Amino acid sequence: MRIAVVQTSPQFGQVEANVTAALIAMESVRADLYVLPELFNTGYNFATTDEVEKLAEPSEGPTYDAIAKFAQRNSCYVVYGFAEKADRIYNSSSLIGPQGLVGLFRKVHLFYREHLFFAPGNLGFPVFDLPFGKVGMMICFDWIYPESARTLALRGAQLIAHPSNLVLPHCPDAMVTRCLENRVFAATANRVGRENRGGVDLSYIGKSEIVSPRGEILKRLENEEAVGIVEVHLAQALNKHINEFNNLLSDRREEAYTTG
Ligand code: ACM
Repeated sequence: MRIAVVQTSPQFGQVEANVTAALIAMESVRADLYVLPELFNTGYNFATTDEVEKLAEPSEGPTYDAIAKFAQRNSCYVVYGFAEKADRIYNSSSLIGPQGLVGLFRKVHLFYREHLFFAPGNLGFPVFDLPFGKVGMMICFDWIYPESARTLALRGAQLIAHPSNLVLPHCPDAMVTRCLENRVFAATANRVGRENRGGVDLSYIGKSEIVSPRGEILKRLENEEAVGIVEVHLAQALNKHINEFNNLLSDRREEAYTTG
């Protein structure tokens, strides 16, 4: 299968233009799964709760409509991040397929001022069975908690789709370890650009990447708008044997982690 990480430069609040820019980038390459950044349609650096309330959408709102049309027309899957209007407002990602909405994830570990604008995710880390393998999602700062990727691996995820808006430098290298320690693929789709709003100045680092279960960086982008595409065999992530004595997941010693 072919995975694409779509590195865009969202303009804050310009939802229609941001969705159109992402679709144009996606049309430029053929993939089975496209991963877009966190909050790719709205931008990230909210200054007020009014703004996030105005820009949040239900999981089957106008952004969903546009992406679902693309997925249906191209018989493919898309993961994208958006501000989800539900009982509360969540920093969410959707997995869309040719038939429509396949799965929803709500960011578990909120970063910095996100605590002012979003409720923490309450759906756990679900995994979805797609024609090419099992896919789970986490969003940006979820990476810093090894439990996120571990939980997805224990639930059978072969690929972690990871919409992001990275501002700190550590995640791209850390994802190499996340993939090695879980023997999974990861596709981190970050954004580029700068948002200086309400006295908070954020610059996004780019470096979207696709990493293999052996920790190989199969593709890493620079800090500019671009699409990275890689052909992978997700079945590689099923083999958790390190040698004839060690199995990555079944050798875990849960009792040792909670006693003593
Ligand atoms: C982040 O979680 N957007 C850094």
